[in-house]
Amino acid sequence: MRLNVKKALIFVSCLVILWVLISYASVIEVPRSAPQRDPAVEIENKIIKLQKQVDAQMAESKSLLAKVNKLKKLSGGENVGEDNSLKDAEVMQHLSQPILPVLVIACDRVTVQRCLDNLVKFRPSKETFPIIVSQDCGHNATYEVITSYTASDPTISVVRQPDLSEIVLPRVKVKFRGYYKIARHYKFALNHVFETLGHEAVIIVEDDLDISPDFFEYFLGTYPLLLKDPSLWCISAWNDNGKLEVIDMSRPDLLHRTDFFPGLGWVLRKEMWQKLAPKWPTAFFDDWLRNPVNIDGKACIRPEISRTYSFGKVGVSKGLFFDLHLRNIQLNMEYVEFTKLNLTYLLKDHYDDTLASTVYNLPEMSASEVVASSDLSSDPVRVMYSNAKTYQRAAKKLGLMDDFRSGVPRTAYRGIVTCFIRGRRVYLAPSFEWNKYDPTWG
Ligand SMILES: *[C@@H]1O[C@H](CO)[C@@H](O)[C@H](O)[C@H]1NC(C)=O
Ligand SMILES: *[C@@H]1O[C@H](CO)[C@@H](O)[C@H](O)[C@H]1NC(C)=O
Repeated sequence: MRLNVKKALIFVSCLVILWVLISYASVIEVPRSAPQRDPAVEIENKIIKLQKQVDAQMAESKSLLAKVNKLKKLSGGENVGEDNSLKDAEVMQHLSQPILPVLVIACDRVTVQRCLDNLVKFRPSKETFPIIVSQDCGHNATYEVITSYTASDPTISVVRQPDLSEIVLPRVKVKFRGYYKIARHYKFALNHVFETLGHEAVIIVEDDLDISPDFFEYFLGTYPLLLKDPSLWCISAWNDNGKLEVIDMSRPDLLHRTDFFPGLGWVLRKEMWQKLAPKWPTAFFDDWLRNPVNIDGKACIRPEISRTYSFGKVGVSKGLFFDLHLRNIQLNMEYVEFTKLNLTYLLKDHYDDTLASTVYNLPEMSASEVVASSDLSSDPVRVMYSNAKTYQRAAKKLGLMDDFRSGVPRTAYRGIVTCFIRGRRVYLAPSFEWNKYDPTWG
């Protein structure tokens, strides 16, 4: 590539020298070639001719310069060696289809191996899905596990969070130190992906996640929604209410919108990161992302059946939460070709109208009636709630998560929580006209 740049530069130089010689020769010629004609007219003609030559030469030089600049860009600038330069084919691919790197957030768990093994196993394309591991905590054994992957595969890289200093906290917050470190690590890792490496979007996973066989296909198929719909800010692989008893196992293709950030395998775009970074919190970043104020009231896409599964019990927040909840979430095993599906129904205009008109035309049932119902494969119903208390009572009865963050019920979209119980689609919906979430709930 550098050779091409040099060749082009030499070519341009030769043309310029040639042009100077030709111009000089034609000016010298003037008095000899037209001795009998009017010298004023003759000189004017010469000047016009010369002007035309100059214009043509300028145009050619400009186009050559453009070509040189393009070649320079492709080779990654002057000071980038042969090894780092992108090949034309790769550049074309970059333009015609997105690059979605996977960012693996790692710390001191050598089980990151299990996560990396699955990413490598299900990754359909190394070029489309380069893997970037960001390691915090300075744990050498974990770092060695990671480098065993990076050593043999140039599409897997590792970066270490450089600031391992203890975060100074008031005594009452010391027990939350882990959450402060995680927020600091995410900020570093996302800046690395977007600002240092210049990626447009990223799939974020933590080191304790298993993935479904169609994990990559899911993100590739839904990514265009994120580009098309400005009311979306993330795509998540996770259903917080993804237990066997409350999902429709016959619909692995089904996706939903949610106002509640699910995390656990998600896509973020650079554009959104640049809005979040300046106000990024020092701790509890996931709950911070669940406050509509911080994400401009935007929504995420989430699946009916989760595409990730958390296998880690050891961790900052896990433990009890894992036993009670994460352990029972179903991981999808049926491969869905999301890139071939029509996902238009998830765009805000389609989705909101359809949801409201569907839900409020359904027959009503109480949560108790739904769980006691014995006729399988029945019609969808609506279960109403009027305040935080009646919401939680109904959710608990249905076997759903009953908590709120900033007033948003887990998995809710515009106040509606949907699930699938005993062969029936159920919508837990407000009995009042919903306008926004009430942050005093929960
Ligand atoms: C990790 O390795 C580095 C050098 O490779 C060493 O300086 C450091 O002491 C090691 N840390 C631990 C905790 O073993
Ligand atoms: C895709 O789905 C939308 C909304 O559900 C529908 O209006 C549209 O006709 C569909 N497009 C195709 C090509 O089927």
